[in-house]
Amino acid sequence: MEDFAQPIPFARPFTGREEEEAVLRVLRSGWLTTGKEALAFEKEFAAFLSNNDELPNSKNDAPGCLPPLHCLAVNSATSGLHLALEALGIGPGDAVFLPSYTFTSTAEVVRYLGAEAVFVDIGRDSYNMDPAALEAAVSRLHSAGNGAKNSFSGLRPRAVIPVHIGGVPCDMEAICAIAGSYGLAVVEDAAHAFPVRAGKSGGNTAEGPWAGTIGDAGVFSFYATKTITTGEGGMVLTRREDLAKRISVMRSHGIDRTVWNRYTDNNASWYYEVIAPGFKYNLPDLLAAIGRVQLGRAMELLSMRESIARRYDAAFKNREAFIIAPPGGARHLYTLRLRNPGCPLKGNPSKRDSFIEKLRSRGIGTSVHFIPLHLMPYYRERYGLKAEDLRESYRRFTETVSLPIWPGMTSAQVDRVIAAVLSV
Ligand SMILES: Cc1ncc(COP(=O)(O)O)c(C=O)c1O
Repeated sequence: MEDFAQPIPFARPFTGREEEEAVLRVLRSGWLTTGKEALAFEKEFAAFLSNNDELPNSKNDAPGCLPPLHCLAVNSATSGLHLALEALGIGPGDAVFLPSYTFTSTAEVVRYLGAEAVFVDIGRDSYNMDPAALEAAVSRLHSAGNGAKNSFSGLRPRAVIPVHIGGVPCDMEAICAIAGSYGLAVVEDAAHAFPVRAGKSGGNTAEGPWAGTIGDAGVFSFYATKTITTGEGGMVLTRREDLAKRISVMRSHGIDRTVWNRYTDNNASWYYEVIAPGFKYNLPDLLAAIGRVQLGRAMELLSMRESIARRYDAAFKNREAFIIAPPGGARHLYTLRLRNPGCPLKGNPSKRDSFIEKLRSRGIGTSVHFIPLHLMPYYRERYGLKAEDLRESYRRFTETVSLPIWPGMTSAQVDRVIAAVLSV
């Protein structure tokens, strides 16, 4: 029975007996850190994504002769993005193109490496990077390299990070074409996008390649609110042998052998060598074991989120007050766009903010995805940016509210969210 006194949280992980048993199995095994569970998780992940993975719009080889997909488990998507860029050799003097409309992780990893984040606007009807804006940003930087003076003068264009916001795939065909013509590496921030196949010009399809497997590397997140979760965790994917090798070593202190390999291999030995000052980014078996169970039910969890989205779509479509979320995707987020919300920045209350407050007072948790990064003090000041410099990102931020969409929401809870939204 629905308890109307209980607030409905914005997000809640969906775990049960199988996840509990998996954790107990690892606790009782005597091996808690990265070991055979993490290896099995990686293998099962690769099998899941290699199922029928022809790549009609990939930057990679022709369909049918794809190099194998390497899946490397890490302790967060942030770590995974950092490792992917590091393996690509990104460093000081390099420019990495990414949307302002994303979580801070996408940009902070660029700064970890001393490179600069060049923000690209989103499209008018999408939450994802606009390929035309990407092309304009890259060619601006190229002309700066050819003697034209602008704020990017002297930077080398090196990589682009498309982010599949809410799990709706970017237009990877267009982005990869631009990347190809300027020699940029592509690292997909697929933190929201498991499991979904990318359509030819953005959005999803039944037949396309899996989001996250299209660029030089891709990264999924298993943070507590994500579509499958290990509490904290992530997976880096790449078909490039050179990147896989470097990432594997750098996620474990830059040591040339894994702990599992040092202690349990047929050739186990205490000896190891440090070949670079690496990081401590490995995923422990305790978490990997949860991930294996979640992976096994990924399609079931997706269909639960899809059925909630269908209920919301039916209730909210053709309403004057808002535009509903772009359809499809992995359904990590369900966003409503309010029409004419006003400006929500500090000291300037907006309809969007009071909408959120009224939902909160009715016990409905919400969130805002995202506060664009070019509005954040660090990036605003570093790059001298104003809100209007990325006009669509700023506008979308002022309009957007994310509603609860998590597997395990009861039908009565979905009804409560709908009733509260319509009443506000
Ligand atoms: C778009 C995006 N990229 C990256 C991340 C980082 O994920 P993690 O928390 O696994 O590091 C997030 C987290 O919410 C995200 O929303």
